[in-house]
Amino acid sequence: MDDAAAPDSGDLILARLAQLRAADLPVHGGRTMAYVYDSGLPGLDGLAARAQAAFAGVNGLDMTAFPSVVTLENDVVRQAARLLGGGPATAGTFTSGGTESCLLAVLTAREHARRTRGVDAPEIVLPQTAHAAFHKAAALFGLTPVTVPVDPRTFRMRPQDVAAAVTARTALVVASAPSYAHGVVDPVPDVAAAAAERDVLCHVDACIGGWYLGHRRLAAGIAAPPPFDLSVPGVSSLSVDLHKYGYTPKGASVLLFRDAELRRHGWFAHASWPGYPVVNATLQGTKSAGPLAAAWAVLQHVGTGGYVELARRVHEATALLVDGIAAVDGLRVLGEPDASLVAVAADDPGTDPFVVADEMRLRGWYLQPQPAHAGSPANLHLTVTAAVADPARIAELLAELAAAVPRARALGPATVDPGVAEVAAALDPATIGPAEVALALEVAGVGADGALPQRMAPVLAVLQALPAPLTERLLPEVVSRLYTP
Ligand SMILES: Cc1ncc(COP(=O)(O)O)c(C=O)c1O
Repeated sequence: MDDAAAPDSGDLILARLAQLRAADLPVHGGRTMAYVYDSGLPGLDGLAARAQAAFAGVNGLDMTAFPSVVTLENDVVRQAARLLGGGPATAGTFTSGGTESCLLAVLTAREHARRTRGVDAPEIVLPQTAHAAFHKAAALFGLTPVTVPVDPRTFRMRPQDVAAAVTARTALVVASAPSYAHGVVDPVPDVAAAAAERDVLCHVDACIGGWYLGHRRLAAGIAAPPPFDLSVPGVSSLSVDLHKYGYTPKGASVLLFRDAELRRHGWFAHASWPGYPVVNATLQGTKSAGPLAAAWAVLQHVGTGGYVELARRVHEATALLVDGIAAVDGLRVLGEPDASLVAVAADDPGTDPFVVADEMRLRGWYLQPQPAHAGSPANLHLTVTAAVADPARIAELLAELAAAVPRARALGPATVDPGVAEVAAALDPATIGPAEVALALEVAGVGADGALPQRMAPVLAVLQALPAPLTERLLPEVVSRLYTP
C-alpha cells in the first residue's frame, strides 16, 4: 500500500478489494470443491454479513461486559448438543474454527490426564487419517502422537489397533466422523469402548461432517450414518464446525464436552498480574463476537428443517457423483464415503490425478490434490456442498472429468528426475541451509518470490517424492517468500 497516496474514497477502496479478490478462487457457485461452503440459499450471506457487522466490535473476552455473547453462545451450543447426542449435562464452547476446537480438545485432555491420573508424559492415539490439527496440538502442547494405521481398503481405523496403542500415558484417543481425506467415519463405538476400557478420553472429530451427518440422520428415507456422536458410550468430546456445513461465515466451530467438569480443564484463568482478571475458554484473548452473531443468525434463519433439506440434497448429489466417477474410464473412488467428501484416484499409471486437477482448473473447477501417503494413493478431494448439489451441475462436473482424463493421459504423468529424488532424499532437513533450500525449491518449480506455476502437477510430483520431514522444511520457505514484502 502506498502511504503517500491521497486518501481514497470508500468506493475506491472497496473497488481495490474487489480487484484483489478477482485472483482468488470463487467462494460461490459450487465449482471450488474445497475450502468453501456455499448453501446456495438466496439472502443467507447478506443476513450473516449484517449480523457480523452489528457485532464486529463486541469483545467476547469479557462476557460480563458483553452479556449478549453468553446468550448467543449458549443458544448455539445448545443447538449443537441437541443435534449431536448431547444430554442435560453436555457443555460446550464456541471457537474460531476446527483447528481451535481440536487444539482445545487435546489441551483439555492433557490437563485432565495430568490432574486426574498424574500423566506427565502424555500421548495421543490417533488414526493415520486424523486431521493435521491434532499433530499441531501435539506439537504445541507437548504430547507424543501415537499414530495407528487404517484399513488399507476402507481407510477406517481398526479398534484392535487402538486397543494395542493405548497405554497408561494416553491422554486422548481420536476418531474422525468423517475423515477429511477419504470421507469415511471411523468405528466410533468400538474405538470409544477401547478408550473407555482404559479410562481414557475419546474425542470425535466431526468438524467437517458433524453438522451434515446430524441433519442427514433426520431426513426420512435416507440410510442413517454410522453412530458417531456424544450418545455413543465412551465419547467424551466432539468438535463440529459451523463454518462448514452450517454454511456460516468463517470463524465458527463448537466443541462439545460430556460435562462442564471436563470442559474446565481446558480453560485458562489468571489473576496474578496488575490488569483485569482473565478467564479464557479459548486460545484467543480479545475476540470479535461477529462470527458468533453471524453463526447464530444463520442457524436461526435456516433452521433444522432447512438444514435437513440441504443435507438431503448433498446426500443425493454425492451418491450421483460417486456412481458417476465409477463410470469414468480411468478414475475410481477411494473407500466407500460415508459423508459428502469424495477422494478420486486414478485407475491406471498413465493417468496422473494432479494433471487431471490442472486440466479441471483451467476449466474453472478446483479439485484439491491429496498427495500419496501411507496406503493412500495420490488423489483429488471433492467436497460436495449444497451449491453443487443439483443433478445438472453434477452431470456437468462428471462430463468435465470424463473429458479431462484423456487430456491428462495425452500429457502424461508429471515425473521427477530419479537423480533429483535421490539427492533430495539424502538432504537432512534439520541441517540444510539457505542455498540447499533455494536449490530444492528451484527444482520443484517454485519462483524466488514464492510464485507457483499455473500447472501444479510437476510441483506436487516433487513434493510427493520427498520425505515428509523435508517437505515440512520446504513448505514454510515457500510461504515465507510470499510474505516477504
Ligand atoms: C476433520 C477435520 N478436522 C479439523 C479440521 C480443521 O478445521 P479448520 O480448517 O476450520 O481449522 C478440518 C478442516 O477441514 C477437518 O476436515
